[in-house]
Amino acid sequence: MSQSRKLYIKTYGCQMNVYDSERMAEALGGQGYTQTDTPDDADMIVLNTCHIREKAAEKVYSELGRFRQLKADKPDLKIGVAGCVAQAEGEEIMRRQPLVDLVVGPQSYHRLPALEARARAGEKALDTDFPEEAKFDDLPARPKATRGPTAFLTVQEGCDKFCAFCVVPYTRGAEVSRPAARVLDEARGLVERGVREITLLGQNVNAYHGHAGGLAGLVRDLAAIDGLERIRYTTSHPNDMDDALIAAHGEIGKLMPYLHLPVQAGSDRILKAMNRKHTAESYLRLIERIRAERPDILLSGDFIVGFPGETEEDFQATLDLVAEVEYGQCYSFKYSPRPGTPAAEKAHVDEATKDDRLQRLQALLKSQQHAVQDRMVGREVGVLFEKAGREPGQMVGKSEYLHSVFVDAPDARVGDLVPVTVTASAPNSLAGRLRSAA
Ligand code: SAH
Ligand code: SF4
Ligand code: F3S
Repeated sequence: MSQSRKLYIKTYGCQMNVYDSERMAEALGGQGYTQTDTPDDADMIVLNTCHIREKAAEKVYSELGRFRQLKADKPDLKIGVAGCVAQAEGEEIMRRQPLVDLVVGPQSYHRLPALEARARAGEKALDTDFPEEAKFDDLPARPKATRGPTAFLTVQEGCDKFCAFCVVPYTRGAEVSRPAARVLDEARGLVERGVREITLLGQNVNAYHGHAGGLAGLVRDLAAIDGLERIRYTTSHPNDMDDALIAAHGEIGKLMPYLHLPVQAGSDRILKAMNRKHTAESYLRLIERIRAERPDILLSGDFIVGFPGETEEDFQATLDLVAEVEYGQCYSFKYSPRPGTPAAEKAHVDEATKDDRLQRLQALLKSQQHAVQDRMVGREVGVLFEKAGREPGQMVGKSEYLHSVFVDAPDARVGDLVPVTVTASAPNSLAGRLRSAA
């Protein structure tokens, strides 16, 4: 049982998968596994997968195919598929790719040690249940070893929104919140291990109801933890931005001035077809209210172009909305039909039109991102150093606004949070100098 074995985990998709991969590795630690960063010397490979767009799901099969030779050389090698493709496709994965020994969904990975033992015994092991028991209560306590200064912490899982394009409600199940006391315990443990910034995660994190005061209440309690300097949360839905959370952005200094608030499209006709349950106007008014509380907040968003039925006029409304908001950072995608979702049944926009719209939208988003970055030059920010930079003596970390900032700081250490003056803006990062070095 305590025999030393090597585990290789590759993570796709969103930050929630990053968090889940950490917890899966910890769960398998009890079976004697330590992590390796290459599949070549692994005794077990786990792909933690994403099903959000067709390309993401297809990547999994091409990656699995590449393990054929490894498995031929090492018949004891076990291959597992976890995450949202596991949940969506279940045993179909083993039919399509017989190399796979183990399939585990995002809600059942606390049972991974038992599944691993079955796979070791030569069985094909599958678990894609949405179990009654709370997964997080059944996972082993988190290790005590020191870790980096930033961490993700999942507080909410699942989605009840059923946007017409999206697989998440099917792969992650209904909305569930972890009790605040558990979250606070885990946060204190992380801070004892050296963490100074925590990003709270949920597919709809602002629908969090594990605290009587909602997400705002949880953030307030977290802010009281000594040694925890920064709090972020993602991803939020516009309809769940309640008054308390908006107010929290003005009141809680540790809550960072960055908000990912996807709107998807700017046309009310398309928003309705997407089942978003908000309009472009209500979204813009919401942003106004958030900016009234925290004028310097940096906004980011997600957009889908070429949703079924989207006309040039609808697309223009998306460009208009973007122009009005002025985002600091954005993610945009061509609509990808997902089996089992309502929109997949509709008549699709042709690929060339999708390509064209994506290019035009991305050009606008990029120019906004650059403008926002350029305006940072000359400003003072706090930078939490995460690692050494490319140049000798250089460190890199994130500002409050989640910009990567490169700083000459030969005496600094990872985990230092220092005042920096921004001196230059590059395409995807900033440069700065220590304020004390002015
Ligand atoms: N829970 C989050 C994130 C969902 S997935 C939220 O509600 O915002 C992340 C992003 O992927 C979505 O915001 C959406 O822009 C994009 N996305 C989801 N399904 C998609 C699809 N079928 N095709 C293209 N993009 C999609
Ligand atoms: Fe998907 Fe919509 Fe739920 Fe976000 S809110 S996870 S886009 S269904
Ligand atoms: Fe992908 Fe699942 Fe996250 S589909 S985006 S890994 S919730």
